[in-house]
Amino acid sequence: RSAAPAFVLTDDFIIIAHRGASAYAPEHTLPAYNLAVLSGANYIEIDLQMTKDGELIALHDAEVDRTTNGSGLSKTQTLDEIKALEAGSWFNEQFPQLADSAYESVEIPTLEEIFQRYGRSANYYIETKSPGMEVKLINLLRKHSLVHSKSKVIIQSFHSNSLRKIRKLEPGIPLVQLYRYSEKVRLTDRELRSLKKYASGIGANFGKVDEDYIQKAHLHGLAVHLFTVNTDEDIQQAYEIGADGVFTDYPEKRPDTY
Ligand code: G3P
Ligand code: CA
Repeated sequence: RSAAPAFVLTDDFIIIAHRGASAYAPEHTLPAYNLAVLSGANYIEIDLQMTKDGELIALHDAEVDRTTNGSGLSKTQTLDEIKALEAGSWFNEQFPQLADSAYESVEIPTLEEIFQRYGRSANYYIETKSPGMEVKLINLLRKHSLVHSKSKVIIQSFHSNSLRKIRKLEPGIPLVQLYRYSEKVRLTDRELRSLKKYASGIGANFGKVDEDYIQKAHLHGLAVHLFTVNTDEDIQQAYEIGADGVFTDYPEKRPDTY
């Protein structure tokens, strides 16, 4: 395991609760976030979508179909319309052994509701799912005094233009560039030079990066967080190849660190 860079985080291997404790409760709902906090995860992961009237909500897909009783794109619906949806029955139907009648009345939370609920007692690892939500996000972070303490908030995106915009708005927030690779890859010097201009780390899919990739990122001061890593064996493997953390649906799991 190569030494981690002097990054923004206090722990040397962080557990990021992917969409909350999403193995146990409906993803991106308060029950899933509650369980994530109880599990002792270092961060709650939140995917962001924007409603028609410009509110930020916690939702992975662009459409509401998979995780609610509604249909269509969230960006074509107002917050009132989104709040009328029920966001937990799908989980009860899909995972009857984990079903809970309380999930039948959960809503899609707004980002502000999440901040109101956990305040500064949790750490947030927030993904801009599309460009155009940066100003609203930064304003909310400022309103809830979440911008100036190191490691309270990390912002991630597959969209480098979104991260670059955030860097201009609030240069102090650590940014993680996401990559979803389809095959094993190497980091080129050119990529590293480009990343170093705005990012503190890389988020990549587990299984497509190896120890050399992580060492190279570390040499350039970039942390590497791997997604989505759910089995004990894979979490251990992520730790042993030098990753600085994992996104996992099982945030109570930990690697054996000897
Ligand atoms: O943000 C890291 C990981 O969550 C990216 O994949 O599709 O689950 O947002 P996705
Ligand atoms: Ca995500």
